[in-house]
Amino acid sequence: MSQCPARTPAIVLASFVAGIAFAHLVCHCSSSPKPAEEEEFTIANQPQRFANAKEANNGRVMNIEEVYEPGYCKGKTVLVTGGNRGLGFAIASEFLKQGARVIVTVRSPVKLEGMEVISGVDVTDDKVAEVLTKGLAGAQVDILVNNAGYFMEAVENMAHIDFKEDLSMIDICAVGPLRVTQALFNAQLLPRGARVAMITSQGGSISWRTVQNPQGGDYGHHMSKAAANMMGALVSQEFKQHGIAVANLHPGFNKTDMTAKYKHIWAVEGAVDSAVGAKRVVHEIGKISMETTGRFINCEDGLRIPW
Ligand SMILES: NC(=O)c1ccc[n+]([C@@H]2O[C@H](COP(=O)([O-])OP(=O)(O)OC[C@H]3O[C@@H](n4cnc5c(N)ncnc54)[C@H](OP(=O)(O)O)[C@@H]3O)[C@@H](O)[C@H]2O)c1
Repeated sequence: MSQCPARTPAIVLASFVAGIAFAHLVCHCSSSPKPAEEEEFTIANQPQRFANAKEANNGRVMNIEEVYEPGYCKGKTVLVTGGNRGLGFAIASEFLKQGARVIVTVRSPVKLEGMEVISGVDVTDDKVAEVLTKGLAGAQVDILVNNAGYFMEAVENMAHIDFKEDLSMIDICAVGPLRVTQALFNAQLLPRGARVAMITSQGGSISWRTVQNPQGGDYGHHMSKAAANMMGALVSQEFKQHGIAVANLHPGFNKTDMTAKYKHIWAVEGAVDSAVGAKRVVHEIGKISMETTGRFINCEDGLRIPW
């Protein structure tokens, strides 16, 4: 992939992924959420977060198994978009392992053992509702994971901006999950008590850009995830009256096709295999509730990310 020579250190390069603050090295195992004003926030400096977690041997970050609580999903129906590879496939596989009925949506037909597959679902297609409702055939979805996403290969800065790609990222990452969520909701396939997980990214945090993008750049991707966060926040508001809880989740730094361009910093920034990342996501989905609806959470440490 093409890299801009002016582009600087690892922290900048990895600015859209994972996290922990030394001051926040606490285990968030409790099921009763704190009031919003008391919730702790994670920190923007990803290499520092990871180094802190390692030094403190923080189990929540370093070994999700220590706190993992997936039991809530047993017998539930889960739908994962972009479930054919990467994190989406890992999340779908993890839900399957934990006893959920798993339905994945994909663009191109594929067979996935133990999972139901709805193919032909391109989240940029306004007709996605038709394909989804036909494929679901009346099945109610307890947990919707809007996972499908896209991060263009080339680095973006003033010397190279690809407007077509920018609009594509915004369409896939921000409007796409809105299309899917609307499709299910309007077809009455998201019952009261359902949870909606928007897989966004820390790259969508505007207040973290000074630390993570000190030289700017990454325009289309980070704009798409900021828009996705706004979408999730607004959906959470609209869904309050319907008893459907929503979260914007940063899934952490995962070793997938999308982050292969950052391979050189996987180790220093704590990238994990997608099977581990999936457990972190499944764990945080278990904590989504009407009390916490609308929050932006880092699945690596369970702490909040500022907008
Ligand atoms: N990996 C990380 O460290 C990381 C960090 C922060 C956020 N995220 C977010 O986590 C999610 C999954 O990331 P990943 O690393 O697993 O990415 P990935 O390996 O690139 O997989 C992307 C998935 O999205 C699907 N997709 C892309 N465009 C689509 C479209 N127009 N309609 C429907 N599906 C589409 C892909 O389907 P095809 O196979 O058909 O292309 C694929 O299943 C994304 O939203 C990403 O932004 C990941």
